[in-house]
Amino acid sequence: MKVSVLLSAAGSGERIGRGPKAFLQVGGKTLLDWALEGFSWADELVVALPPGFQKEGLKTVLGGQTRQQSVYNLLQAATGEVVLVHDVARPFVVRAAVERLMEAVRAVGAATLAVPVPDTLVREEDQQYGEVISREHYRLVQTPQAFRRAILWQAHQQARAQGIEFTDDAQLVQWLGHPVALVEGDRRMFKVTYPEDLALAEGLAQVWSS
Ligand code: CTP
Ligand code: MG
Repeated sequence: MKVSVLLSAAGSGERIGRGPKAFLQVGGKTLLDWALEGFSWADELVVALPPGFQKEGLKTVLGGQTRQQSVYNLLQAATGEVVLVHDVARPFVVRAAVERLMEAVRAVGAATLAVPVPDTLVREEDQQYGEVISREHYRLVQTPQAFRRAILWQAHQQARAQGIEFTDDAQLVQWLGHPVALVEGDRRMFKVTYPEDLALAEGLAQVWSS
């Protein structure tokens, strides 16, 4: 079964404020290189990069205005029977978690990694401590997410036709009416989102072995 890894790397990194995250360095390597190494086993790798940031020796597509549009562009270039959609903002690829994901996509056709919520989860109500939500029923969704390509393609086509935007691909496929398996992720696959996350990533890079 041919597997294509689709890397969404076309964001502008506004919250960190140091340009596109794909080209930020941790442990002496760019986030893009971390992710590429993590998926070096894949049959095909396609990367969506921001305009003006193309990279030699890689199969690339131009990113879109939103993450969903970037993934749409990636899908048009993908040829695998299964696609693994991954954010470059998650540089640490944990092999065992990806193997669990691959098993689930074979069985269900769509699957995502997710982790439990470690802290108490509360609704903010007028800057006050509001309703506490029982966190055992909630999960934080990670990438990679894996799909039979035909399913994800259909979901993207339909969402595009109806002008609907989602923040991740699992939500798109669920909206299409297809079940999505939740697979145990790994907290090391956290998303580098805020400036302080770079320090966490730097620390993890020093002890990294997947
Ligand atoms: N992404 C993308 N195309 C876009 C927007 C985002 O490929 N138009 C990618 C980012 O490169 C990232 C992933 O989607 O790998 C998750 O997005 P996020 O963490 O929000 O990254 P940025 O959009 O770059 O950061 P910010 O929201 O702070 O600007
Ligand atoms: Mg963003």
